[in-house]
Amino acid sequence: MSYFLGNFPATRLRRTRSAPWIRRLTAESSLTVDDLILPIFVRDPDTPHEIRNFPGVFRYTINELPAVLEHAAKLGIQAVALFPYTPENLRSDDAQEALNPENLLCRAIRQVKYHVPHMGIIADIALDLYTTHAHDGLVLNGSIDNDETVALLCRQSLNVAEAGATVIAPSDMMDGRIGAIRRILDTHSFHDRLILSYAAKYDSNFYGPYREAVGTGTRLKSNNPKELTDKKTYQLSTSNSEEALREGAQDIIEGADILMVKPALPYLDIIQRYTQEYPAVPVFGFQVTGEYALFKSYPDYEQGENMLIESLLSMKRAGARAMLTYGAIDVAERLKNGGI
Ligand code: PBG
Repeated sequence: MSYFLGNFPATRLRRTRSAPWIRRLTAESSLTVDDLILPIFVRDPDTPHEIRNFPGVFRYTINELPAVLEHAAKLGIQAVALFPYTPENLRSDDAQEALNPENLLCRAIRQVKYHVPHMGIIADIALDLYTTHAHDGLVLNGSIDNDETVALLCRQSLNVAEAGATVIAPSDMMDGRIGAIRRILDTHSFHDRLILSYAAKYDSNFYGPYREAVGTGTRLKSNNPKELTDKKTYQLSTSNSEEALREGAQDIIEGADILMVKPALPYLDIIQRYTQEYPAVPVFGFQVTGEYALFKSYPDYEQGENMLIESLLSMKRAGARAMLTYGAIDVAERLKNGGI
């Protein structure tokens, strides 16, 4: 800092911490319900409501969705992100179910539109929920084929856009997909749809409970040859941040409206760098399943929730404009009751 910050005793930094009113007035960041996006797992009636190894988060049928949505809307939550559990018999090597206008995701989108028309609807674009091998892309000749995958992601994006998704959120980490998706949306008059790019999506161990929730974890391990049992050939390596900046820059140029960093807490530095390097571009953080589980498995429930809330505020401090969190409803309740 080039300016003079002041020395003790003329400067006593505790003065602005001395009472709630002044702490609030001088707060540099805050957490409100406008920062929260609720991810929801969607199921067919044959898939269990409970998720193994992930207590406190559930899958909902199309008919169970309205109650959750209305609760979220009443609390002031502005958007949901939908993740379907595709039934066993509908998964295939070529992920054709992703293109079915009647698939679980499209039906869920229409349900949200019908019950809470003002709610933002974020649709995940990737093939993992539709492929037998659970990769985000098509496996051709023993590796994930970038360009064939992008072609399919474009058609998947159109499918969810037609169902009414307001935000197209590619989470697959293929090269060039943002530009390709933007072009196909534009040629079909979907210029109004946002693209939320999972620009910095790390190859992370924090996705464990998610893969359980959508049925991809064991598939990845058991339905692939040894060299394909992880997503390292497309997701970012934990060791890299310059590469994340490059991904973000490319996605902005290709037409992304918002960048996402995922997971969020272990990658706060990336949230901060994005907001510093590209201050005009909104950045979201995804507090992923593994992060949520860490806090929720803490023996003292309230303490665990406080820890979760603290970590959300740290994402705001780093520069995130909003966060996806499985705790959105609980946190919104706390905010409403003045508990934060
Ligand atoms: C992949 C995808 C993942 C998540 C959402 N979409 C991770 C993965 O399986 O690689 C993780 C979300 C979470 O853990 O909350 N398309």
